Amino acid sequence: MAGGGDGLRDLAAACERHGFFQVVNHGVDPKLLAEAYRCCDAFYARPIDEKRRAQRRPGENYGYAGSFVGRFNSRLPWKETMSFNCSAAPENSRMVVDYFVAVLGEEYRHMGEVYQKYCDEMTRLALDVTDVLATCLGLGRGALRGFFEGDNSVMRLNNYPPCPQPHLTLGTGPHHDPTSLTLLHQDEVGGLQVFTGGAWRAVRPRSDAFVVNIGDTFAALTNGRHISCLHRAVVNGRAARRSLTFFLNPQLDRPVVPPPELLAVNGRPRAYPDFTWREFLEFTQKQYRSDASTLDAFVAWMRRAEAVEGAMEDGQNKNQVICKN
Ligand code: OGA
Ligand code: NI
Repeated sequence: MAGGGDGLRDLAAACERHGFFQVVNHGVDPKLLAEAYRCCDAFYARPIDEKRRAQRRPGENYGYAGSFVGRFNSRLPWKETMSFNCSAAPENSRMVVDYFVAVLGEEYRHMGEVYQKYCDEMTRLALDVTDVLATCLGLGRGALRGFFEGDNSVMRLNNYPPCPQPHLTLGTGPHHDPTSLTLLHQDEVGGLQVFTGGAWRAVRPRSDAFVVNIGDTFAALTNGRHISCLHRAVVNGRAARRSLTFFLNPQLDRPVVPPPELLAVNGRPRAYPDFTWREFLEFTQKQYRSDASTLDAFVAWMRRAEAVEGAMEDGQNKNQVICKN
């Protein structure tokens, strides 16, 4: 997957400049990819009432979301999504199939099997990518795998229908993925753009490649050495577009603390306070829609919460003193 010395240097530079690169020779079977797209099309072609059996509930990160009613007014993204959780933990080896069958019915078993296999492949590839990134960071190969043990990853199928007025909206507005690493496959239509060098640049679709975006949590894990990629998706008036996105996440309660080697470099101070993926995920689900400054907003929110807690403790201490007297 990774090239030689120069390849690694280029990759490290990409991670430090914009947090985006593409992976080829990844070993994912093109037939599996084709089947994943076929199932995606089959799902989105179903009547809305059927898709709504999997309706995403407020505050949850999985399920079906999409309705184009009022999108221009509400500035909601011009897309439908179907998201589901997955994990390489042995006890979760049937998680995706079970979810599809439980919420959509027995006739979705095949689709569940396809995405189960797809997620297994994505986890394998994402962990391989962490090995290469660990090397870029001067850590031992494999140094970051432990962080993702018992992962709490998410898979999302994006469907962007053609838009009658594409200039009025975006498929997905500018944002950083709050997650750790995103492996994205886009179809031949194209629409993904990344912000680099002060401009939005289109990522030309390559059927043999996965786009890797570094997300906020990975940036925090590297103490800010690697950059969380700012990206968006534009829509068009001609063709529907699909993308398959896999988001690698750590276990919900694992604290995001950079390896000591990354803290020691030039006495670099901690770029972010400790947090867990559960806390950050809840923030993005309940308080804040992901955008260009999610992690900063989260850190500010955490500090405010700490300040309030501190003030309350102060108050309690004062009360205790008053009571004693
Ligand atoms: C996302 C995303 C872009 C795309 O799902 O987080 O950035 O091209 N998608 O679909
Ligand atoms: Ni994204």
